[in-house]
Amino acid sequence: MWQQKWIIGNWKMNGSQSANRQLLQALLKPVDVAAAHVYCGVAVPNVYLAGVNEFTRDTSLAVGAQDVSRFAANGAFTGEVSAQMLADVGAQFVLIGHSERRQYFHEDNQELLIKLQNSMAAGLLPVLCVGETLAEREQGQEQVVVSAQLDVLASLGMREVVVAYEPVWAIGTGKVPSVTQIAAMHQLIYQQILSLCGEDVKIRVLYGGSVNAGNAAEILAVPHVDGALVGGASLQADSFAAIIQAAY
Ligand code: G3H
Repeated sequence: MWQQKWIIGNWKMNGSQSANRQLLQALLKPVDVAAAHVYCGVAVPNVYLAGVNEFTRDTSLAVGAQDVSRFAANGAFTGEVSAQMLADVGAQFVLIGHSERRQYFHEDNQELLIKLQNSMAAGLLPVLCVGETLAEREQGQEQVVVSAQLDVLASLGMREVVVAYEPVWAIGTGKVPSVTQIAAMHQLIYQQILSLCGEDVKIRVLYGGSVNAGNAAEILAVPHVDGALVGGASLQADSFAAIIQAAY
């Protein structure tokens, strides 16, 4: 899986039991056909994790969560879901620090460090999301901002690192950075991970932000783009399947 392109769908707060079944039914064949070349996954709302995991058992589609509690395995934390619980119901990976979590829940590196530690301790593969806002890019601060977000990796001793670069201004807007902008940022992210984690670390850097069936091939061909984190276009089987096909 470390040599393959990764295509991860982030369903965000969307879905229903029947809609999920319909979507997955249509996806399982293209996912299995692509399996030798593409690592495919879906990050689903916690409440659907067990059901989706059951439905996709013995298929090539990985299932993950969109967030994890910063609190311990169990305890008096009403409403929270721990990393151990996510793993227990079949999550294999978890998104950490998605920009919507940073924006609406004010998650910062201090909190994200704990979430990364909890995920690793539970055997979940964390996918750390980073990215600058439009104002930060307009001020020429994008590299400083993303570097500071990556600093959370410094003390973790990770041997495998998955990062999703998602410029906030490209999420759900239909605006996509130029190929040159994506290439520059992904190269910076690779360099930073190597310098924080050591030369022998395995790295995947995904691009996210308005990826669709029409632009996926061009984005996925950019150097150091190892896959995509797909929001809106992952909710329709035909567009998600087309993005998967564009990855090989
Ligand atoms: O996690 C996915 C990203 O937020 C991208 O969302 O593909 O709808 O722009 P989008």
